[in-house]
Amino acid sequence: MGDVFRVMRVEERKITTKKGVDMKLRTPTADDAEKVLAFRRDVAGETIYLTRYPYEIENSVEKERDIISNYQRAEHLGMMAIFDGDKVIGVTSVSPVGLNFKTRHRASAELVVRKEYWNLGLGSHLLDLAIEMAENCGYERLELSVFADNARALRLYKKKGFVDCGQIPQAFKMMDGKYHDEILMSKNLWRH
Ligand SMILES: CC(C)(COP(=O)(O)OP(=O)(O)OC[C@H]1O[C@@H](n2cnc3c(N)ncnc32)[C@H](O)[C@@H]1OP(=O)(O)O)[C@@H](O)C(=O)NCCC(=O)NCCS
Repeated sequence: MGDVFRVMRVEERKITTKKGVDMKLRTPTADDAEKVLAFRRDVAGETIYLTRYPYEIENSVEKERDIISNYQRAEHLGMMAIFDGDKVIGVTSVSPVGLNFKTRHRASAELVVRKEYWNLGLGSHLLDLAIEMAENCGYERLELSVFADNARALRLYKKKGFVDCGQIPQAFKMMDGKYHDEILMSKNLWRH
């Protein structure tokens, strides 16, 4: 990959919710594939603010295992999950915007938390982690895409220093015929 990418390793750690409950944050392994897949399917049905409808979630545990293994192996990819006991309740991932020289300094992040766990500070922990993974890896910018009416996510991203850098009208078309604009957000990761 050239020398831009370093290992995107983040140690397993304990995090505490705003209500004082401890949870574990770690890199998912291939053995967690079934749990991660269940998480993806569940969250796709809980919120309109993800890009896929539940029926568009790949349903193969084998394939999920491959995706997770790829994230573990590749130096320029990172994935971390929050576990409440055995259950996956939040996931963040970081991947490059492009692999060619002119774009490989940019990463994009995704984060999702199960609805019953919203507003406990977990999204905030996940975003800190995405930033840490991207920085460890040598990326210079971290980018996020968000539905323009997703107030919770926008608040979180602005709080962590992401700035609005453009809006795409009618970027998302829903099954009921309605459209949502997309806001692109970006954070400079250079350390001064
Ligand atoms: C966006 C998301 C990851 C946030 O996770 P979370 O665990 O609820 O995040 P946090 O608890 O750390 O922070 C949420 C913030 O939004 C605030 N908030 C809650 N409801 C809000 C609302 N209706 N309008 C604006 N802000 C709101 C909370 O007060 C909190 O801010 P604070 O820490 O300053 O008090 C989660 O809601 C989610 O997964 N949503 C569905 C998928 C999604 O939208 N992902 C992002 C795609 S870009």
